[in-house]
Parts: sequence; structure tokens; C-alpha cells
Amino acid sequence: MADLTKPAAIHWVDGSPEEYENLCAQMVATGTFIKLNQNLWPGCYYARSTPDDVARVEDRTFICSLSKDNAGPTNNWENPYTMRKKLKELFKGCMQGRTMYVLAFSMGPIGSPMSRIGVELTDSPYVVANMRIMSRIGLAVFKEIDKDYTRVVPCLHSVGSPIAPGQKDEPWPCNREKYIVHFPETREIWSYGSGYGGNALLGKKCFALRIASNIARDEGWMAEHMLIVGVESPQGEKTYLAAAFPSACGKTNLAMLIPPKGFEGWKVWTVGDDIAWIRPDRHGCLRAINPEAGFFGVAPGTSVKTNPNAMAALARNTIFTNVALTPDGGVWWEGMTDTPPGKCLDWQGRSWNPEIARQTGIKAAHPNARFTAPASQCPTIDPAWEDPEGVPISAFIFGGRRASAIPLVYQAFNWSAGVYIGATMGSETTAAAVGAVGKVRRDPMAMLPFCGYHMGDYFRHWIKMQRTLKVTPRVFHVNWFRKDDEGKFLWPGFSENMRVLKWIIDRVHGRTQARETPIGWIPHYESLDWNGLDFPAEKFDQLQEVDRAAWRAEVMEHEQLFIDLHDHLPPEMIYERELLICRL
Ligand code: GTP
Ligand code: SPV
Ligand code: MN
Repeated sequence: MADLTKPAAIHWVDGSPEEYENLCAQMVATGTFIKLNQNLWPGCYYARSTPDDVARVEDRTFICSLSKDNAGPTNNWENPYTMRKKLKELFKGCMQGRTMYVLAFSMGPIGSPMSRIGVELTDSPYVVANMRIMSRIGLAVFKEIDKDYTRVVPCLHSVGSPIAPGQKDEPWPCNREKYIVHFPETREIWSYGSGYGGNALLGKKCFALRIASNIARDEGWMAEHMLIVGVESPQGEKTYLAAAFPSACGKTNLAMLIPPKGFEGWKVWTVGDDIAWIRPDRHGCLRAINPEAGFFGVAPGTSVKTNPNAMAALARNTIFTNVALTPDGGVWWEGMTDTPPGKCLDWQGRSWNPEIARQTGIKAAHPNARFTAPASQCPTIDPAWEDPEGVPISAFIFGGRRASAIPLVYQAFNWSAGVYIGATMGSETTAAAVGAVGKVRRDPMAMLPFCGYHMGDYFRHWIKMQRTLKVTPRVFHVNWFRKDDEGKFLWPGFSENMRVLKWIIDRVHGRTQARETPIGWIPHYESLDWNGLDFPAEKFDQLQEVDRAAWRAEVMEHEQLFIDLHDHLPPEMIYERELLICRL
């Protein structure tokens, strides 16, 4: 690869603190990093990307399987031979003047039977610094590779911006042309032109979801876009849940929930906030690990009120990207405090103040501004979060961002009805991906941008998983985002979501009644614990309403997805749809 990309130097990343310090100092020198005020933000750095590199690029993401049919209609496909030729052109000499970092990383705790190893060759020190927080890297991983015949997923990454002799580097090098490419058969990743998030930190979406979903299908496990939490009752009963919400739809927040007033003695423990690798154990129970070691979380909206655990996790040793920089060398973003700073520099380095915001609507932080923080710094990190065997999963929760039609919570009648609910999930698009925001689209299991093979086959894999299980997790759907006629959220969300979690756990343990509706079981008003919250029954009915007319429209949207997938659709999905139509 060095022969192809022609870097000026090669650095084998050992993962040591000294190496990290050197990398950061070097990035401060090139302007990629600004060292934050160390009294306020110890160990923290600040980065600004260019405006053309702020989020995942779904239209530039490719699954290059041998047959187009394997990628399916929800993925961009290109013939692997054509794509390789194209990539070799792009990568030719692309690292000139830069250092190639050889970054070995483990997704999952080193040595866990559920972990997998990758090696990312990258010309971005920003990527190395972020991956050091997001995964386990360095010498320990090289040792693991040497140990036995461990298969390694090769990942090649370049910002696509060679430096000519004598030319000065830019603070955020990248290329207008972007290619995020996966070869599922050979388990390879090639990423070109972007330095941001899921485009560039290849262990995350590219490996842990797109490539891992292929490995998981072949080996009989699941790679999912899910948070993992353990909910502990005052009696010490602990129930683990995994929840799939699309990007920027509340996983990090739910993963770090602090129980509200009225739930004294309850504790929510964080295992992961974005990705779950799940596999049946020898007792036929599903166990999950978080393959990551850090949080790459949405900054806007995160505050001591909405998510104090995230605020504690990001208080030190964190990299902030595309938030605002305050005059005292700190950071700020919309929603962090009630009153914005009098002035600051926005995510593009322009001066910003509340008056400018009022007049122009310009945001200080980009809506997809992110923090990269070590998971170990989260006050509620679960004692078992690095357990090599994973934690036992009792329920799956699907959820979307839906202003109308979808109730706060309902439970699937059974596993295949649950798979149908996940498969047909809809959600409004967010700033986590480049493109229109707020448009409802089908996002099956929150995996639309992340499933590395045919979506119909993925549904089949979900259906088949049940056969390997003795204990089938219960399946639920939630929607924190339903709005009233004035466009206000009907549900307070955040901490108060605990009330919904408690009902889910009571259902899992068979302790509470529910009411049957055409779409599934829903709670009676009295079944939710309202201790500490004044929430009228009428408002709850509005929140839980199953409007048959709206649901008939919803089913038509299901059908549109199914038409696209029809020749790979498991029959269970068709039957479930028929049953739903009958009930409606
Ligand atoms: P990715 O990292 O992109 O996968 O996103 P995520 O699913 O982890 O989303 P996150 O928890 O960061 O939430 C994204 C946005 O949703 C933030 O602006 C939150 O403030 C908002 N949000 C989260 N939970 C709730 C909730 O219960 N109610 C409301 N109204 N908003 C919420
Ligand atoms: C998402 O978009 O779902 C993320 C952020 O978690 S990124 O790593 O950029 O994909
Ligand atoms: Mn995500």
C-alpha cells in the first residue's frame, strides 16, 4: 500500500500516551487541533472540519460485492473489479508528503471471543487520535495478531490530499471527491477523501456494522446499530436491553439515562451507545458486547440537564469537532447552557454572537458536531461493559423520530411481528448524514445506511436467529418524538423515558398487563409508574393513540420498501403485513 500511496514516512502506532501527546502537539502545529484551556478542559482538543466534510456521505458509500444482488437495492453497488481500478487510480500517490500510520485496532475487548481485529492504514493523525479513544489500539493488538492465525480486516484510508514539496498542509485536509467502499467478500474497506466520523474512523460503521454484518450473517450472530443498557431495580434485579434508533435519534441519551424523580433506588448502567455485537451463548441466550471503547456523540442538545453522564464523560481527554470555541478557550454548542456565551467563534471560525444568531439563524456549532470521549469516563459505565462474554439481552427496542402516528410505546405480539416492526421502522432524517433533514424514510432496524448486504436477507437472518435461541428477547417500539398540533413534543423524554423502560422490563418479566391494539400491546395508563410526574391520562391517550387511517398510510409505506426487496423478502414479512392489514 505504501508503494501505491507513496507516503513520506510510515509510523507504526503503539498506542502509548507519549505517542498520543506527540500526535496532538503535531496537530496543534499544523492547525488541525487547538488545545483547549487545560484548567477548564483537561486533556481536551478542538478541531474544525471544512464545510464539505461534516457528516457521513451515504450517496458516496458503496458495497462492492461480486453480485449486485448481494448488495441489494438499499445500497450503492459497483462491480468490485471496476471499483478496485478506480480506487487504485485515486490512491496512487495520495499520501505524498504525509505519514502513513499503521493502526492496529480491536473492536471489542482484546482477547474476547466476540472481538475482531482490523488494521487501518491512514494518512490522518486526527483519525489515529480519535480511534485511540473509540477502540483498543496499538502494541497489545499487534501482539494479538501475532498470537495465532487471527484474520485481520484490512482498512485503507486517505484524506486524498497529497502535499507537494514545499507546500504547507491545511488544518483539515480532505478531497471534494469521496469514496467509502466496502468489499464484503474479501472483508476490505477503502475510504477516500473524508476525514470525518464514520467516513474515516473505519472501525465504527465501516467495520463494526457494514463488514461485521456480513461476518455475523455467515457466522450466526448479529451486528447492530444499537445501544446497550443494564437497568437495575431497587431490589437489585438487573435487566439488559438493546435499542436500535437511527443516527441522532437518542441512543447516547438513552444509554446514559438518569432515572427521574420518583425512581429513587433505580440505576441505569451504560454498556454501549451506538453498536452492539450480539451472539447466542451455549444456553441459547443472546449476549451482547459493545465493540467500541468510546463515544462519538452528537454535541448539540447535550447538557447537564439532558445528559449529565455524557457531560461528565466529555469533561476531560475529549476531542471536540465542529462545536464553537469560547473566548476563554472552552467549547459551547446549542443546548449546552440556557444562555449562550456573549461571543465565540463558530464551527467555521467566524465570530458569532446571539445577535448574529437571531438575525441570520447561523448556529455556533454544526448540527452534527461531535465529541469523542472515552467510555471509561462515563459515571454510569457498567461494571460488566468489558466482560469478554458480553451481557444477556432480555429485550430489543426499536425507535424512530416520528412527529405523528407512532405511539410512545408498543410491544410486538411475538418475534416475527417484532422483526416486522423493526424492518418497517420509519424515521425522520437527521444531520448525521449529508442530505435533507426531517424527511421520513424507512430505516429498517436503524441499519439502512449500515447493512452491508441485501436488506431482505438481513430480515431473514433476524427471523432465523430465533431458532438458535432458548430464550427469545421481547420486542418493543418507542417514539419519544410525537408532537401535538402546535408542533410541541407530547412527551418530556430524556430521564422520563425511564417510565417506559420500567414498563418494558415489567413486560419482559411478565409482571404487568397490556391492552391489545392492531399494532401490538400497549400499556394502560395505570401500568406506567407516574410517581414524581404529573402527566394527565388524556395526554397519555393522545400519545398512545393508534389512528387507523394514519396506520393504513403507514402500511402503504411498508409496501413500498417491500416492493424494492420483494425477491429476497422472507415470507414471514408478507404474512405479518397481511395480519396487520387484517387487524387494521
Ligand atoms: P448517533 O451517534 O448519530 O448514532 O446518534 P444517537 O442515536 O446516539 O443520538 P443522540 O442520543 O445523540 O441524540 C440526538 C438528538 O436527539 C439530540 O439532539 C438529543 O437532544 C435528542 N434526544 C435524545 N433523546 C431525546 C428524547 O427523549 N426526547 C427528545 N425530544 N429529544 C431527544
Ligand atoms: C451515526 O451517524 O450513526 C453515528 C456517527 O454514530 S458516525 O460515526 O459519523 O457514523
Ligand atoms: Mn450511530
